[in-house]
Amino acid sequence: MISPASSLRRRLLLWLLVSTAVIGVLALFDTYREAVKTANTVSDRVLAGSALAIAERVVVSENGSLEVDIPYVALEMLTSAAQDRVFYRVDGPPGSFITGYQTLPTIADTQGQPTAYRDATFRGEPIRVAVLLRSASTGVNSVPFVVTVAETTIARRQLAQAILLRSAVRLAMMIGGAAAIVWIAVTVSLRPLYRLSDAIAERSPDDLRRIEQRVPREVQGLVDRFNSFMVRLQSALDALRHFSGNASHQLRTPLAIIRTQLALAARAATLEEAQAAAAKGDAAVAHAERILAQLLLMAKIDAAGSSEPQNLSPVDLAALAQDLTGDRVPAAGEAGIDLGYEGDRSALVLAEPLLIGELLRNLIENAIAYAGRGAEVTVSVAAGGDGVLLAVEDDGPGIPADQRSVVRQRFSRGGHRDAPGMGLGLPIVEEIAGLFGARMALETATGGCGLRVEIRFPAAA
Ligand SMILES: Nc1ncnc2c1ncn2[C@@H]1O[C@H](COP(=O)(O)OP(=O)(O)O)[C@@H](O)[C@H]1O
Ligand SMILES: [Mg+2]
Repeated sequence: MISPASSLRRRLLLWLLVSTAVIGVLALFDTYREAVKTANTVSDRVLAGSALAIAERVVVSENGSLEVDIPYVALEMLTSAAQDRVFYRVDGPPGSFITGYQTLPTIADTQGQPTAYRDATFRGEPIRVAVLLRSASTGVNSVPFVVTVAETTIARRQLAQAILLRSAVRLAMMIGGAAAIVWIAVTVSLRPLYRLSDAIAERSPDDLRRIEQRVPREVQGLVDRFNSFMVRLQSALDALRHFSGNASHQLRTPLAIIRTQLALAARAATLEEAQAAAAKGDAAVAHAERILAQLLLMAKIDAAGSSEPQNLSPVDLAALAQDLTGDRVPAAGEAGIDLGYEGDRSALVLAEPLLIGELLRNLIENAIAYAGRGAEVTVSVAAGGDGVLLAVEDDGPGIPADQRSVVRQRFSRGGHRDAPGMGLGLPIVEEIAGLFGARMALETATGGCGLRVEIRFPAAA
């Protein structure tokens, strides 16, 4: 038995989880970037505000140098957030440091902008730096200066992380919810299949009626196939019943004869009478044996036909036909029949030798049994371009054209009921031929009377 493939439910869930996880990771990555950007925008504005407040306090002293009086409120604006620390520096015209942290990184080139921002590190901590370019006026000329304000980024990072965490939780809840919905949906959708399986399990073995269960459209095809399989099974069973009924009927006749002859022998007054009864009983046993052999053969052919195409081997049909014809010459002679072979010495067909032998034997036996005393029977094999033709021809009474399709059916016989047989010979011949891709034809013999049975084998490529 084939082990079942992994469950539908598990497969759907796996697909769902893998795809949403991939999409989710991408979405979270994007969310994080967006969160960092937002946090930066907000805090940058505050940094710029502080820089502006400091710049406003820069004045030109009497001796022309710049002086600054740091307004601590400007820095307090910033420190309200978390544990962040704030640093600043003010530089005068290029190269002159005025006040603040002299080692604080600044931005040398603001690319023409009055304000600029960047990320840097200061004393081993990540910081965000804002730079403001201004100039103080003396009334005569103006002196440029740069205000740099920096802040550690703890608060920004916390904000971004909080946003990320919330998004991740929301996403996880959505994935969990979707998985639960898939689980429930699959369970509900599979219910009709379980009902179908119960309905089949409850049936008795000989109940081959159609399945009339409402199932989803996707499964209807399967149910239809199953139903048509049931119909075929039913007809195969009917054929089997018909066959075994006929077979037992056929066997009953010789058995009844044997019993009668045994009774006659028991009551015989003379040895001659007893011997005559024994001889008749013996003939009936031979008949029963022949019937059994044919039934077994029929079963063998049926089995071969329903199994995989067997590996056929090349068989020399001409040689086989010559041998078998030779074997039957004495029996034919006893029946007053002139049996002979004519045709090729050798002709290959793809077949199975034992079954081909049975085919030939049935045809020759029919000719001996039905052609009548004094008839001539010819077995011939001829290889041609389109295959090999086997023919068994006699000049006896033949079979009338309107009966030829009837005698091909199982258990149907022609007019000569005195000859032993039960109407399986020609069906056996036709079915064996079918196994090897050959076709059987019943014709009137070339002389205008008698039967010619032709078996046309395809060319053995
Ligand atoms: N060579 C023949 N000549 C005349 N009739 C034949 C010949 N072969 C077969 N038949 C007819 O076809 C019938 C069916 O043949 P077959 O299928 O071999 O069954 P069975 O020989 O058991 O009757 C025979 O009963 C017979 O009437
Ligand atoms: Mg026969």
